Amino acid sequence: MDIKKVVIPVAGWGTRSLPATKNIPKEMLPIYKKPIVQYIVEEAMQAGLKDVVFITNQNKRIIEDHFDRNFLLEQLLTRGGKLDLLEEVKRVADMVNVVSVRQKVQLGLGHAVLCASEVCKNEPFAVMLGDDLMFGLNSGISQLIEAAKAENKAVVGVIEVPRDKVSKYGVIAGEEFAKGMYRVSKLVEKPKVEDAPSNLAIIGRYVLLPEIFDILDGQKAGVGGEIQLTDALQGLADRDKLIAVKLQGQRFDAGDWVEYLTANIYFALHDEELRDDLVKRLQELLSCSD
Ligand code: UTP
Repeated sequence: MDIKKVVIPVAGWGTRSLPATKNIPKEMLPIYKKPIVQYIVEEAMQAGLKDVVFITNQNKRIIEDHFDRNFLLEQLLTRGGKLDLLEEVKRVADMVNVVSVRQKVQLGLGHAVLCASEVCKNEPFAVMLGDDLMFGLNSGISQLIEAAKAENKAVVGVIEVPRDKVSKYGVIAGEEFAKGMYRVSKLVEKPKVEDAPSNLAIIGRYVLLPEIFDILDGQKAGVGGEIQLTDALQGLADRDKLIAVKLQGQRFDAGDWVEYLTANIYFALHDEELRDDLVKRLQELLSCSD
């Protein structure tokens, strides 16, 4: 199985992150020194994916611009002798090939993926959500690509979540056939706690087969009135073509403020130049009563 393309849906309105996202795409909010979407693209690159298909809307053009050259800025940095920064901004532009497809109406994640059908029609492809961050020794998506190649099946990334949090996620039922790998039999989007088939929650990493497009094409709206990718994946599970892999590493949902802020601190604590000063300031904040 050869996987070259990654679909990154970024067409959502980011309502949980308002008012910050009134005019700035959620995916362009910075975490430490980089916009969220750059971390996602870098994870894809580490896994050897070079072709990025952004599913966008009319307010998301700056995401494409971020991965393009900016000659005025490059001239300014050259004139100012800021060569390290010059290299960095050029590196971001040269990182990947970008294709953009507009999702004209935000009908849900399943519909966003369906928008990639013309670009990915005959090949398996990766999907990474534009607001879901994974860090660790192995890039999150590379763990799924490895499993997809070994099993010749579609794959969803899952993590264990506390039982009382399952209703925020799509949840799977499956039989563990190797350590951390499950044959998926059932998927439920945002179940009530009592209806959840397990505490294995789907997060924003997938490897999909092109037959998902036919399934999505006939998919009716599900929870929240949205066309849900989770519901369409049941079609692959019914044909025994879907496995789940428990992902290793740190995961942050950048659409949630606590997670977003924690991700910022996580990176700053990994920067030797910042670490000591940051810890000192955090301790001061925790001990003061204002
Ligand atoms: P979310 O539901 O987390 O993102 O969708 P959202 O809709 O932007 O944010 P909230 O919930 O209103 O705060 C997960 C991912 O799917 C994309 C989003 O951009 C996000 O990256 N998405 C969602 C689409 O591209 N199109 C859609 O119709 C829905």
